Amino acid sequence: MSAGGLAAARALLAGVRRLAVLTGAGMSAESGVPTFRDAQTGLWSRFDPVQLASPEGFRDDPPLVWRWYAWRRELVAGAQPNAGHRALARAAGSFDSLCIVTQNVDGLHQRAGSSDVIEIHGNILRSRCLDECGVRFERPQQLPSGEPPRCPGCGSWLRPDVVWFGEMLDPVQLRAAGEAVSGAQALLVIGTSGLVYPAAGLPLQARRAGVPVVVLNPQPTEIDSVADALVAGTAGEVLPALLARQADQPAT
Ligand code: OAD
Ligand code: ZN
Repeated sequence: MSAGGLAAARALLAGVRRLAVLTGAGMSAESGVPTFRDAQTGLWSRFDPVQLASPEGFRDDPPLVWRWYAWRRELVAGAQPNAGHRALARAAGSFDSLCIVTQNVDGLHQRAGSSDVIEIHGNILRSRCLDECGVRFERPQQLPSGEPPRCPGCGSWLRPDVVWFGEMLDPVQLRAAGEAVSGAQALLVIGTSGLVYPAAGLPLQARRAGVPVVVLNPQPTEIDSVADALVAGTAGEVLPALLARQADQPAT
């Protein structure tokens, strides 16, 4: 970890009352949830995203895609929030607002106790109707055949309530995310490669609004060029230290 980076980031956050946070898959890596693009361990090094994370892939082979998501749902259901999720949840009390915009679909921020969370890529534990008839389920049943259940509203397939490649994000949530980021006094970007838009555009949007950006990641990322402070380290190791002063000292 770069000590200079941590000190600079702490200084930058010192007087901040409204904090926005953007998280990606690295946030949950220490909970045992694999990232997408890390070599060896990333999901996209082992699986084909076009087959498993696109509307075309799903229509091509619904049981295959449904079973892959069932596997990931199990993995997420068995995972626990890590020290980084917990540090963010704890820190909320020491800011006037702490809004987390997450690309993660695992719900671990909420399970750690964070309440102001915008899930711009959806949530893997929910399902919805493939034909958008409006039906949504919190916990879909698993059929012995491995096939996705049918929508009780219209008879189409149920699909995971996540954003797939080639799909638009919910415009209401995306606008809320942009407003949270532009209206903050600092943006903390954690564990994202910065390769997937529109999420990856939020740090630049912050910077253009005059909001300083802190990037926390063990590796260089696409977002480093817009960062005012870079902290090299993992979410679980760094966040308790980075946010400690905010939590321990009441604002004066
Ligand atoms: P990526 O897999 O692209 O990037 C993960 C990032 O986390 C990398 O920059 C790693 O260096 C970093 N990382 C790894 N371990 C970490 C740790 N312990 N602490 C902090 N950082 C760590 O994941 P995302 O940027 O989230 O889209 O990917 C963006 C989107 O691409 C995902 O939301 C998903 C995927 O396709 C959808 O599902 C729509
Ligand atoms: Zn339906």
